[in-house]
Amino acid sequence: GPPFSETLVRRLRRAERVAVLTGAGISAESGVPTFRDPDGLWQKFRPEELANVEAFLDNPELVQGWYAHRRQVVEDVEPNPGHVALAELEQWVTARGGEFLLATQNVDGLHRRAGSERVVELHGSITRSHCIECSAPADASATERGALTCESCGGLVRPDVVWFGEMLPEAAIAAAQEAAALADVYLSVGTSAVVYPAAGLPQLARQAGAYVVEVNPIPSDIAGLLNEVVRGRAGEALPDLVRAVTAPDA
Ligand code: APR
Repeated sequence: GPPFSETLVRRLRRAERVAVLTGAGISAESGVPTFRDPDGLWQKFRPEELANVEAFLDNPELVQGWYAHRRQVVEDVEPNPGHVALAELEQWVTARGGEFLLATQNVDGLHRRAGSERVVELHGSITRSHCIECSAPADASATERGALTCESCGGLVRPDVVWFGEMLPEAAIAAAQEAAALADVYLSVGTSAVVYPAAGLPQLARQAGAYVVEVNPIPSDIAGLLNEVVRGRAGEALPDLVRAVTAPDA
């Protein structure tokens, strides 16, 4: 049978407010490497060398070059059925007058490309960059080629991502926390749940009374705190789940 319970299907069909947290695992089946899987980015590179301000200021060419590479990877891939299923679930919930919010830790922009509209990017996006001196956004082509200096003031240009030790965009984390606190059903998809404050969202939802479910082939750090663990790949489990939820009254 399916890797999810009838309870989950019933609660999603009845839910007025649905919220979702996604991590790198939902983009894995698109061919975008995760961070902490055996073949993940942090197995090849050290976050200390790349994903923080000190590393960037110490070696801007290396860091901008790494993000230009990651942009190239994302350019060449497509959203997978897991991304599409979440966009379909959003449409189904909002068409019935419900509330839906998807908070993603991913910076690959694939949720929006799959059709999701109510998305907050907790860790920013590699598709945008800006000058650290005058904050002017770099234009798409400059971002594309990983330009290092601002065309307006000559200052250094960095990607619009949240690095280790940096604050998340306030509006994004506030919206994600409010959605978690109000959700009837909360889905945590493809995240190892080790990086806070994002990892605190499923727990916040659970404490506020939501039915909290994780979709992950490998139980995360917080699996024991949740109502249900769907042991599967997002690209397979989510389309089956959303098909069951959106089926005409069975
Ligand atoms: N479907 C669902 N989950 C999957 C799949 C899949 N096909 N493949 C892998 N996973 C799961 C892994 O089991 C793991 O639990 O996705 C999770 C990926 O975890 P991480 O690589 O740690 O990625 P993430 O949780 O998004 O990392 C959070 O850490 O490095 C920082 O800022 C970075 O946003 C990132 C944050």
